[in-house]
Amino acid sequence: MSRIEKFISKFAIEFDDFFLKLLPKKKYSQKLHDAMKYSIKVGGKRLRPLFLIEISKIFNVKKIMALRAAAAIELIHCYSLVHDDLPAMDDDDLRRGHMTCHKKYDDATAILVGDAFQSLAFEILSDKKTHPNANVRCNLINELSKASGATGMVGGQMLDLDAEKKKLSLSEILMLQKLKTGELFRFSCVAGPILSEQKNLKHFEEFANNLGLAFQIKDDLLDVEGDEKQMGKKTKKDLSRGKETLISYLGKEDAKKKSEDLINDSKQILKFYGKRANRIIDLTNFVISRNN
Ligand code: IPE
Ligand code: IPE
Ligand code: MG
Ligand code: MG
Ligand code: MG
Repeated sequence: MSRIEKFISKFAIEFDDFFLKLLPKKKYSQKLHDAMKYSIKVGGKRLRPLFLIEISKIFNVKKIMALRAAAAIELIHCYSLVHDDLPAMDDDDLRRGHMTCHKKYDDATAILVGDAFQSLAFEILSDKKTHPNANVRCNLINELSKASGATGMVGGQMLDLDAEKKKLSLSEILMLQKLKTGELFRFSCVAGPILSEQKNLKHFEEFANNLGLAFQIKDDLLDVEGDEKQMGKKTKKDLSRGKETLISYLGKEDAKKKSEDLINDSKQILKFYGKRANRIIDLTNFVISRNN
């Protein structure tokens, strides 16, 4: 394991400890509670929280505030995966090395787990513990709503389903990727500046645009050439469903080159922050060097 891989897995263990404690204490339905807990405990790289927390450090945000915002974005991400795996969408049985939520429980439970995760994300952001200033909390909620709804992840997922049925232009594929994946990364990258009440989010928005697209290109590349065991999810899915991606459009080599260019552009933006951005640079490199 490389140094950054060790750092990421150590972070995931610490983060998950905090994350699990945010599940509602009241268990009106034991089944729903168990399914929520299951969907968190199966793990994941926790990269969105990690980017959020490391960027927050540049702005001297209090750890607990960054952790809470990180939990909110990871909840939206987990919800997006639980729904993405449903038979009506990608119809997958394996996620993070375990049975998908709807396979372990049932479709209705998986739908409700996603719904509950989404509500919990906004409950966390709206709580005073996330930030004493109501304007800041409101800004975070506004950004996460935009990033996750019809103008963000959900909109992208809809376009992604269409991409199984029709040919898309390059700009349509780029828009689809930006919405389905890029927007959640955008929240991860601007939450720190928002928590520290910065007015200008431009730097990290631009950083996130490149990062998010590079991340999805790598996911699509791994779908073609990754190892199912290492990834903890089925591979060769996009091709088998006839899904249009940047790989199907540009070919493997050009798509790879594009992801490298995007990562270099991201790192260029970080130069402004000097040494303080070293850890974020390592994470940015990891986005395309990873094999899971
Ligand atoms: C997978 O995201 C879904 C995409 C947006 C491509 P991750 O690769 O971050 O999944 P986990 O959280 O590590 O399981
Ligand atoms: C999922 O993209 C993106 C979201 C859940 C928003 P994919 O469908 O490519 O993700 P995997 O490959 O199943 O993780
Ligand atoms: Mg999908
Ligand atoms: Mg999928
Ligand atoms: Mg994929």
